Amino acid sequence: MCGIVAYVGGKRAEPLLIEGLKRLEYRGYDSAGVALLTDEGMKIVRAVGRVANLEDKLENLGGLQGTVGLAHTRWATHGGVTEANAHPHRDDRSGICLVHNGIIENYAALRTYLEEKGHRFHSETDTEVLAMLVGELYEGDLERAVQAALREVTGAYAIAVICEREPGTIVCARKGSPLIVGVGNSEFIVASDASAIVAHTTQAVTLEDYNVCKVTREGFRTSTIDDVEITPKVMQLELDLEQIELGTFSHFMQKEIFEQPKALRNTLRGRIDEYEGKVVLGGLTSFAKDLVKAHRVLLTGQGTALHAAMIGRYLMEDLGKIPATAEYASEFRYRNPIIEDGTVVIAVSQSGETADTLAALQEAKDRGALALGVVNVVGSTISRETDAGVYLRVGPEIGVASTKAFTGQVTALTLVSIFLGRRRLMSAERSMMLLEELKRVPERIERVLEQDRTIKRVTERYVERNNWLFLGRGYNYPVAMEGALKLKEISYIHAEGMPAAEMKHGPIALIDEGMPAVFIANRGPQYEKVMSNIAEVRARGGHVIAVATEGDEHIKTVAQDVLYVPDCPDCLSPMLTVVPLQLMAYHAAVLRGHDVDKPRNLAKSVTVE
Ligand code: AGP
Ligand code: GLU
Repeated sequence: MCGIVAYVGGKRAEPLLIEGLKRLEYRGYDSAGVALLTDEGMKIVRAVGRVANLEDKLENLGGLQGTVGLAHTRWATHGGVTEANAHPHRDDRSGICLVHNGIIENYAALRTYLEEKGHRFHSETDTEVLAMLVGELYEGDLERAVQAALREVTGAYAIAVICEREPGTIVCARKGSPLIVGVGNSEFIVASDASAIVAHTTQAVTLEDYNVCKVTREGFRTSTIDDVEITPKVMQLELDLEQIELGTFSHFMQKEIFEQPKALRNTLRGRIDEYEGKVVLGGLTSFAKDLVKAHRVLLTGQGTALHAAMIGRYLMEDLGKIPATAEYASEFRYRNPIIEDGTVVIAVSQSGETADTLAALQEAKDRGALALGVVNVVGSTISRETDAGVYLRVGPEIGVASTKAFTGQVTALTLVSIFLGRRRLMSAERSMMLLEELKRVPERIERVLEQDRTIKRVTERYVERNNWLFLGRGYNYPVAMEGALKLKEISYIHAEGMPAAEMKHGPIALIDEGMPAVFIANRGPQYEKVMSNIAEVRARGGHVIAVATEGDEHIKTVAQDVLYVPDCPDCLSPMLTVVPLQLMAYHAAVLRGHDVDKPRNLAKSVTVE
């Protein structure tokens, strides 16, 4: 959600800022704005809606000059989606201008304090309060004023601040929302993530919580909000522009669905020792003993990442032979969890910035758990907060609806489960068989993708229906949950995923003539039970769309539509059975004319609670 881009250097800032905002559009937003320090002073231009609307306004103004500026895409939390609430926000005394991602939780008390000091506000946002506070505390040194203001606030922030009285300076800071500083040749690009930076430089300073960074053309200084100087951590950004370009596809989601074979080959690369029948996970080696002796694994995440965590729970018990649970991070963090000795917590996250998942991880660590991460974005906050972890290596995921990250998470969790199992009770033979089958998952996904036209045709038959059920058992119960989420979040069709057996305990009342019921009916241990559930739906007029195993002729006699996936061990089936569901959701959204990559109300990374 939301995004920040800021620039100080020798080039005209406006085009760089706009290009950076476009790179961040995938994060989700509702309005945008820029601020430039020009020879005539601070110029601020804001617009509701797309970045293109902001671009039009700037064009009508003839463009803004200046080599120092801020830009922002807002995902509203405090105050409606209006131009007045869009960022950047300024103060009314010291020439301060600021953009912010996150929430200032004590903004109301601060606003009262500032109003009593005579400040007048023009927006409903918490962000304007922070801008006014910096202005109130400004005594000629922007860095100190920002540090002083941040010592007074509670909540989450990533901010970039400029001041008319210090025209060559940007001060940025973060706590709980991501921000990195791209280091160029006498220029700096501050941004929410690497996609807005890599066109200019691949060297970046990562900021930790409570870090402040002052940048000028001459260099930068990192400190804490208490003005304790700190040694900067510079990282190499592993991202190239081709990875974040659309190529020949119509949408990023479509590109990322079709990228899955290549993406999962990257996830697997170098991590399977075929001769020993072992998994090689460098990130876990130093904790292997702790993992082997662990008593319990607790997996956590949100949304699609939680669905992958739920599959991870089955994998940990089935392959790793260790007790495991999976639960919403947002619930775990507040329920005062009991974490006994020998507990391993695995945080699953594509962005590595999801606020609830990060908080759940910290809660578990504070209670003594060994913390692992299964994360995609290298150097993200969650990846840096864990004791160890496994990167997905699926490349940047731009589409808001998570697809290749999901199969990447499941692949990584499969590797971790075999890594564990092989050190516990799994035989070398079983391990070798599973690893051989795992290596074949990418080519099997390619076979599913070849059915895209069939999947589109099936979707066309049901796209007008407004209520769908997704049903699965065992490893494919979380896949049913994931299929329902995909359909909801990009086609806005209401859908519910659940264990197939659960349908009889109430939801079956929903079944009416023609209601689409998607069953994952692959050849697994509960196949016959799924057949019974299909019959129960058919008996009440429901229309059954079955995801089945290639060669299954019987399923055609009980389901109206059948989508086939190649045979594979049941524990590896989610990486295949989810693909038709991803494509159905994609086609439904396109057929309904929705913005597939920027669905309404959604953000790519939910960095607020
Ligand atoms: C999935 O399609 C959604 N975009 C959303 O549920 C997402 O999975 C969730 O917000 C978690 O994000 P993360 O993987 O970056 O932590
Ligand atoms: N809380 C701020 C607002 O509502 C910032 C929201 C965001 O992160 O974009 O304007």
